[in-house]
This record gives sequence, C-alpha cells and structure tokens, in this order.
Amino acid sequence: MSEDAVRLEGIDKSFGSARVLSGISLAFARGEVHALIGENGAGKSSLGKIVGGYYSFDTGSLSVFGKPVGHWSPRAALQSGIAMIHQELQLVPELTVAQNVFLGIEANRGGVLSGSEQARFRALDERCGFGLSASTVVADLRIAERQKVEIMRAIARDARVIIMDEPTSSLTADEADKLHRVIRWLRDDGRTVIYVTHFLEHVLETADRVTIMRDGRIVRTGEIAGETKQSLIEAMLGEPADVAFPPLPAPPALSAPKLLEVAHLSSASGLEDVSLEVRAGEIVGLIGLVGSGRSELARAIFGADPSRGTVRIAGEAYEDRSPRQSVRRGIGFVPEDRRKQGLDLVQAVRPNMSLPHLPLVSRLGILRTREERRRTAEMIQHFNIMPGHIDGDVAYYSGGNQQKVLLSKWVYGAPKVVILDEPSRGVDIGARRRIHDFVIELAKGGAAVLLISSELEEVISLSHRGYLMRDGRILGEADCRNLTVEDALFRLFNVDRAADAAALGVA
Ligand SMILES: Nc1ncnc2c1ncn2[C@@H]1O[C@H](COP(=O)(O)OP(=O)(O)OP(=O)(O)O)[C@@H](O)[C@H]1O
Ligand SMILES: [Mg+2]
Repeated sequence: MSEDAVRLEGIDKSFGSARVLSGISLAFARGEVHALIGENGAGKSSLGKIVGGYYSFDTGSLSVFGKPVGHWSPRAALQSGIAMIHQELQLVPELTVAQNVFLGIEANRGGVLSGSEQARFRALDERCGFGLSASTVVADLRIAERQKVEIMRAIARDARVIIMDEPTSSLTADEADKLHRVIRWLRDDGRTVIYVTHFLEHVLETADRVTIMRDGRIVRTGEIAGETKQSLIEAMLGEPADVAFPPLPAPPALSAPKLLEVAHLSSASGLEDVSLEVRAGEIVGLIGLVGSGRSELARAIFGADPSRGTVRIAGEAYEDRSPRQSVRRGIGFVPEDRRKQGLDLVQAVRPNMSLPHLPLVSRLGILRTREERRRTAEMIQHFNIMPGHIDGDVAYYSGGNQQKVLLSKWVYGAPKVVILDEPSRGVDIGARRRIHDFVIELAKGGAAVLLISSELEEVISLSHRGYLMRDGRILGEADCRNLTVEDALFRLFNVDRAADAAALGVA
C-alpha cells in the first residue's frame, strides 16, 4: 500500500501563454494536514484544482493512492476519493442542509429525505460534531455553517483527501478554531487534508507539513516543526519581510474639520444610539468582536441598511442615505463580504473599478478614457494587482487579486470619508502591508478613515483613536496609541482577561 495519497511528478500548467505552474513534484501523505501557502497568484488554487480534477495539466503525472490517473475530472477525482472545497463555496442556497449534503448521491425524490437519509444525516452530524439542523435552508446559514455543510458533503462522499481552499477567510477566530478541530479529526481518521490559507498562525497550529509556493514553483516542503512565521514569510516572498505595522502619522489637530459625524444612530440591524466623529486625517477604529455591530454601523452610515439618527459629512447633514448618494457625497466603503458585493466577472479590471465613479472620469457626460486608464493603472500599482493589465479579465484572477480589484473599486474615487471593513482579509502578507500603507496614505491625504478589523492588533495598531463596541452600542472611547489588545478585551468584556485572550487566539 502506498503511503502517499496523492503524488504529483513534474506537473506544468499554462493558460494560453501564461505559465501558472512549473515542475511541481510533491506528495501528500495519508493522514496528514498539508498546508499550501504562497503569495496571491502563486498557484495554490490552481494546484488544488488539478488535484481535485477541475483543471487539466500540460505535462507530468498524477497518481492517487498509488495508481496513475487517466482521464481526470471532478467526478473521476471524487470516485478516487478526492473532494475539493472551493474558495467560493458551491452549495445550492435554495436547498436544505441535508439536501446539499446528499446532493448527487441519492436518487432525486423531489427533495424529500427518506427515513434512512435522516438517520444517515444524524450519524454524520454526530461524527462531525457540527450540530447542524438537516432542514435549515442553506441560504439562511452563516458562511461558517456553510463551510461545515461542504465538509459534511465531502465526508458523505467518503472523501479520503479533502482540499480546502482558504476555508477560514470569512470565519471568526472561534469558528476557525472549531474548523481546526474538525481538520485534526479528519487527519486522525486517516484522511489527508490539503489546507490552502494565508493565516500563518493557522498553518503553524494545525498543519503537519507545509509546502511553500512562489511564482508557480515549489520553494520547499517540510515538517511544520522546523518553521516559524518569519521563516514561512521569507520563503513565500523570497526575501526577509517587515511584518510590523507601519508607523502612524501624528493625529490631526483638534481644529481639523470633522468630516464624519454620527449622532444617535439606531437601526433594525441592532444599532442603539451610536454617536461618533472622525476628523480629517484621523484613523478611527471600531473595536469590538464579531456581532458587536461594527459592520452594521458601517452599513448604516453608507446607507446600505436603513437607520434613524443623523449623519453629517463635512458638516453637511446627510439624510436619505443610500449607497449611490454616499458615493456621490464622497464616502468610500469597502464592505466585509466583498465576494458577494460582487465583481462583474464578464468585465475587465478597468470598468470594474471605474463604473461607480464615472463622474470622476467623465467630463460633460463623456468618458475620458485616458483619465480612466491613468486612474486604473494607479490602483493596480498601489495594490500590486497581478496580472497588471488594466484590461485584464478579472474572472481568471486569483482570489486575492480579485479582492484587491474590489478594494480599489471602493477607494477609486479619492473619497473624503473612507469606511474599511476587514480590508486585509484574503490577501497575502505583502498585500496586507500595502493595504496598511494605503490606509495611512488616505489619512495623510486628509481623509477621515473608519477602520474595522476582527484582528484587534490590526485595528489598534493602525488607529489613532478607537470606539469600543458591544451589542450595537458604543461602550467608550480609547486612545489607541496606548491601548493594548489585553486592555481592549478587558474593557469589552470586563471579565477575566487571560481566558478571553486565549479564547480569541490573541494571547
Ligand atoms: N482559468 C484560468 N485562466 C487563466 N488564468 C488563470 C486561471 N486560473 C488561474 N489563473 C492564473 O493563474 C495564476 C495563479 O492563480 P491561483 O488562483 O492558482 O493563485 P493562488 O495562489 O490561489 O492565489 P490567491 O492567494 O490570490 O488565491 C494567476 O496569475 C491567475 O490569474
Ligand atoms: Mg487561491
């Protein structure tokens, strides 16, 4: 019996003239968690898709449990025991949890589960420890729960190799912990988990081995025990990297104009009497846990959700708030769920960025293409978007590069007020630093920045001042320049610091 679950030998892959993978030779063992890391566009998803049968390869060979594969497709891969959970989840939202889990395995009976399927679902759920209800419609589930449905789907198909492409990018720290428990359980059960992620802490905690990729090649594969965060980053980037947060400029003078003023904002989405202000040149963080109302506040200001209370932009009252009005008034908003808030996949990079900002790149209603090109190229350079053509097809961009296009779209119009909800999610460590630098540039340029991040260290380090939020309310204010993560947690919970820090994985 072969020790290897999957073995690749000398695999090359190109799309047209673009070489995406070169000379990939790699084995995934039985019963291991094998992390795959690398910068945005390094080729991780492409490699995963080859193993999962979604992409063909040009040269080289692939064998699964000791047998060379012939005709290779997702179906063939599944029959050989390989399932892939994509960066974009692939469930049918209108169906229930159980229907999705058994989709394609059971005979179609108009979506009604038979008694034995009910029993199978319960057994499966018990084994996974997810506690999902069979009859919930998937559209009503949070992303974390959907992820679980995908995992159950893979296990229901008796997958022995499960490829997970950035499964934790939309999860809270607590949910990620739970997923990691499941991943370890899958490993202990003798299965192979190929784990693609940008969270190096997760790699160090959960993986047995790691393969680092750069520019479509393997830099090295090794036991996790020999690695540190620094060693992983250096291998990914090919050079030592500065992972510290950039220094903040001095906060603006008290005489600086208040560009954003919010008073007594309440909403059906859970906000209760929220008031805050942000001056020109100031970066203000919303410090709270997932569910504390941070994103709801951002959406209410931007007019994405209805709210009561007053908002003033640069001193002017802003009533009848709507996204379209907000863009017109100079508010830029990078929403949390960028995948849903959509890229237009049939369009190129340039219209994807400029479409909401046509007045900026038009004169007398006529598009100034030169200006549009210049601005688009500037954004591509700012965020190091790859491939870097202004007319590139975003549909084929790697996940992280699509994220960067979306981010550009929302800050394209040089807004006066910028609201950033989880701006560095899903991007690699180099892009993260660029985004941090960009946030500081925005403030230096005189914008008022409101920053949200689940990573308390990120929001505290990048903000001059912060508002602590819980249950849709502002608990108080803090000077972030002398606030520690521990202090913030203490003030958010007012309970045992150490235990909470541990629960959040920030200790
Ligand atoms: N179907 C496709 N057609 C053309 N190019 C593609 C296709 N799929 C991937 N690519 C290209 O292959 C390269 C590697 O992309 P891939 O998605 O594998 O990167 P990744 O390492 O997963 O990055 P990320 O961390 O951003 O998700 C990118 O330059 C991408 O544009
Ligand atoms: Mg990817």
